[in-house]
Amino acid sequence: MPYRTIIEPFRIHSVQEIALPSAAEREAALERAGYNLFNLHADEVIIDLLTDSGTGSMSDAQWAAMMVGDESYAGSRSWYRLREVVCELTDMPQMIPTHQGRAAERILFAEAVREGDVVPNNTHFDTTRANIEYQGAEALDLVIAEGRDPASEHPFKGNLDVERLEAVIADVGAERVPMVMVTVTNNSGGGQPVSMENLREVRAVCDRHGIPLFLDACRFAENAWFIKLREPGYADKTPREIAREMFSLAEGATFSAKKDGLANIGGFLAMHDEELAGRCRNLLILTEGFPTYGGLAGRDLEAIARGLEEVLEEEYLRYRIRSTAYLAEKADAAGVPIVKPPGGHAVYLDARTLLPHIPPSQYPAQALAVELYRDGGVRGVEIGSLMFGRPQPDGTEEPAAMELVRLAIPRRTYTQSHIDYVAEVILAVAERAPSIGGYRIVESAPWLRHFTARLQPV
Ligand code: F0G
Repeated sequence: MPYRTIIEPFRIHSVQEIALPSAAEREAALERAGYNLFNLHADEVIIDLLTDSGTGSMSDAQWAAMMVGDESYAGSRSWYRLREVVCELTDMPQMIPTHQGRAAERILFAEAVREGDVVPNNTHFDTTRANIEYQGAEALDLVIAEGRDPASEHPFKGNLDVERLEAVIADVGAERVPMVMVTVTNNSGGGQPVSMENLREVRAVCDRHGIPLFLDACRFAENAWFIKLREPGYADKTPREIAREMFSLAEGATFSAKKDGLANIGGFLAMHDEELAGRCRNLLILTEGFPTYGGLAGRDLEAIARGLEEVLEEEYLRYRIRSTAYLAEKADAAGVPIVKPPGGHAVYLDARTLLPHIPPSQYPAQALAVELYRDGGVRGVEIGSLMFGRPQPDGTEEPAAMELVRLAIPRRTYTQSHIDYVAEVILAVAERAPSIGGYRIVESAPWLRHFTARLQPV
């Protein structure tokens, strides 16, 4: 198109009302929720940017596909259809559906990871880390140094540090590294992409040591789009060609279909290794269901199959990545510190820089997330020391590498004026940053504590 404005490549076909709680109602909700935004009633939220996972809008074609979902317990035609789409995309013949991504992780790690093992990744997502640690293994984050610096403008800040990977393997021995993972895009590190070149280098290291490479492929299409935009040699390739090349470098992949599957629920595990897949299927039957539905309805398998095709459409990806950058540019132009360049699915506010007076032990990113809700009913999520801080035996805590608030943009869900509103709220909160105080935890669980912890203002 000859015009500069990139429009949503869809029109709205069905709408859902947004609740508009008053400031007093939001204040009461915060107290009741123990200052943990996961504990809010969704009707207490105005713009919900808690996650882009399962919160997107499905297309008319996906809803139509659901109508032909085959609910057969075994051998459902919807399973065959999804397997064909996944196989066509990844070339991996083994496809095991699960109710969501973490179930794929749990099953894979239970079969492939043993106590004392080490699993490197660029940055493990919290469920990936927790599932590895649950096996008694160590989850190691080896993202490049630029990936831990919010201000660095490196085009592929999700890249894995190949030298450190080599050093880790040399140090612990290849037999204790059952797999190397790469998360595309690197969610916990700011939604940053991984370059094809880096994937190739990681694969070469894996090959030298006989270690399989697995992708955490939740946002594979967004990663493919960044490669098209930023990596020399890819501008003329289609997102599908690029995605296929990414998958060709991996032995297997864990997927949450709630992101680039454009579905509201679902996930799967895909791989080449028939023997490992067989063991995973046995475990799947124990906890998720028969291998041709894996905890999902046949109609969900249809929605995912269709979603995996729509997500690779160029017009969709252009709009998707542009709409995230639009919010980031508004914050940046007003001087609000953000992770740069903006990631694919979310804008990450840098709370350490915005609130330097709040120490990590008082969770500055959580404090910022609370204020965005208090001021404008905008719900984001803390990705900082509340999520990743490591309690030490002496009662102190090793802080997270960064203190971020993630504002994740659900796919095809909010309009430009919703995003303009969010930008206004961010600017208003940033203006009174020096007056914002920290928090302390008063109740917490042994793992994934950020979901359920209760906090109090210090
Ligand atoms: N890996 C990554 C990179 C993720 O972002 C997620 C989920 C998972 C694995 C697990 O998938 O939720 O289907 O079990 N991320 C969501 C988020 C929850 O908000 O970023 P799941």
